[in-house]
Amino acid sequence: MAAIDAAALTKRYGSTTAVDELDLAVPEGVVYGFLGPNGAGKTTTMRMLTALTRPTSGTASVAGAPVTDRQRLIERIGYLPEEPPLYDELTAREQLTYVAGLRDLPADRTEERIETQLDRLDLLDDADTRIDAYSKGMRQKTAFVQALLHDPDVLFLDEPTSGLDPRAARTIRELIDERAARGTTVFLSTHILPVVEEHADTVGVLSDGRLVAEGAPDDLTRQAEAESDRTLEDVFLEVTSEDPAEDAAGGAVGGGAGPATEGSPDA
Ligand SMILES: Nc1ncnc2c1ncn2[C@@H]1O[C@H](COP(=O)(O)OP(=O)(O)OP(=O)(O)O)[C@@H](O)[C@H]1O
Ligand SMILES: [Mg+2]
Repeated sequence: MAAIDAAALTKRYGSTTAVDELDLAVPEGVVYGFLGPNGAGKTTTMRMLTALTRPTSGTASVAGAPVTDRQRLIERIGYLPEEPPLYDELTAREQLTYVAGLRDLPADRTEERIETQLDRLDLLDDADTRIDAYSKGMRQKTAFVQALLHDPDVLFLDEPTSGLDPRAARTIRELIDERAARGTTVFLSTHILPVVEEHADTVGVLSDGRLVAEGAPDDLTRQAEAESDRTLEDVFLEVTSEDPAEDAAGGAVGGGAGPATEGSPDA
């Protein structure tokens, strides 16, 4: 059984097609790197796969639960959104304890686990400070711990290292590897190529809501090099290129989309 299955998954907002007949079959235990320019539809895809928004058409299931069965689904998945919603008036420890309670996790084990994870992410000193005093990175780390608390089968991470300093980004990357080693399926969107090159078993490139390339990072790189002496980065830049002339140069992964505005890799 695939951990993530999607067939002709589509989301339209008015006249905008954010995700266009997307097919996905992500096997269990795989780290899947989801690449694509700003506005390609990565977040929208994740929101459909986590039952936060309803597909316009198509079907999907995650860890055996159809996305239409929200209750069953959310027991099995963890999600780190682009902008994690946290309770500003709580401390990180309170927030995590509260969410663990909502999930009916055993209190004693949870407390220990929260402690360990906060320590791991250098958040222990601030664990009893209200979240409204947190930096973006501190919020991100809190939300990351929250996404993992219940040991999900499938973990969705939307730009997990965004806003993190290099040390925190590295810790997050280590935690992703540890999860993967324990068999968790990780579906991760990022603009940072080294993250997918190092951690992803499979890469999918989304452009204008469509999957334009998919494969092992090494294979995509080899394919790009063999066809036109390009690196995976060249291919990625091409997909994210604003210049139609560059798009027309075509190749391994096809057409282009909107501009990429993200700066240089930060992790
Ligand atoms: N709630 C919404 N209402 C209307 N349009 C939306 C909504 N959410 C997303 N869109 C549109 O859907 C398209 C895909 O957006 P999405 O946020 O999924 O892209 P993304 O790949 O996550 O981009 P980024 O890399 O910037 O995070 C964009 O054109 C966006 O404007
Ligand atoms: Mg996004």
